[in-house]
Amino acid sequence: MRLLFLGDIVGRAGRRAAVEAIPRLRARYKLDFLVINAENAAGGFGITEAIHLELIDAGADAVTLGNHAFDQKDTLVFIERQERLIRPINFPPGTPGRGAGLFRAKNGADVLVINAMGRVFMTEIDCPFRAVDREITACGLKSGADVILIDFHAEATSEKQALGHFVDGRASVVVGTHTHTPTSDERILSGGTAYMSDAGMCGDYNSVLGMEIDEPLNRFLTRLPRERFEPALGPATVSGLAVEIDDKTGLAVRVKSLRLGGVLEPTEPLFWVD
Ligand SMILES: [Fe+2]
Ligand SMILES: [Fe+2]
Repeated sequence: MRLLFLGDIVGRAGRRAAVEAIPRLRARYKLDFLVINAENAAGGFGITEAIHLELIDAGADAVTLGNHAFDQKDTLVFIERQERLIRPINFPPGTPGRGAGLFRAKNGADVLVINAMGRVFMTEIDCPFRAVDREITACGLKSGADVILIDFHAEATSEKQALGHFVDGRASVVVGTHTHTPTSDERILSGGTAYMSDAGMCGDYNSVLGMEIDEPLNRFLTRLPRERFEPALGPATVSGLAVEIDDKTGLAVRVKSLRLGGVLEPTEPLFWVD
């Protein structure tokens, strides 16, 4: 199975680049399943229902979120009716929406998508390790799902690597999001789980994490807010992780990071095209 994950969409530039790239990448690489994190898609903060549907229409099978999940207040309502929109699973009980979903891929496989959030240098939240463990115990590889993808939305690479090893052999893919900066450590762990500490973002890298440079820089220099953070609008890079998964075992066979467009060095073509 051919799976592609794309990192946090930041603002209009990232959104446009992703919506343009998704159908093209799906066709070029004959992708079976595509997941995109869109926690910063609405002006840098959260997501609207219209943006979610635009991503689904473009060809995303599921959309994941993170600490910005509910920045747009409407999300508390529409997330209940949008089954393909997944927020962190370790939010407190009673939080609207769902932290995992099972979706049918183009090749017929049932893919469990889980979104979890880290606790190091982030808001206190329930334990992501135990929440993920409960989910993949209830719906495991070959006992409920053919493929399991975990988007671990976290700041610390230590926490991300620990979670990768924690589920190694029990999940198909653990991919980090939230830092908006791609790491160069994509690999297959010893148990067969594809891993990358952070997928990077779909956004303009001539920025500070996708935001116009001036205001973040001002806050570092003066400690005083002067303006709102505004998403940078220059040419965006589409960043992510491509994984080929063995249909029999649900574990990873090949893995490669994707970077396309904008100011980062491109990594296309992926291994599916010579
Ligand atoms: Fe983000
Ligand atoms: Fe985040």
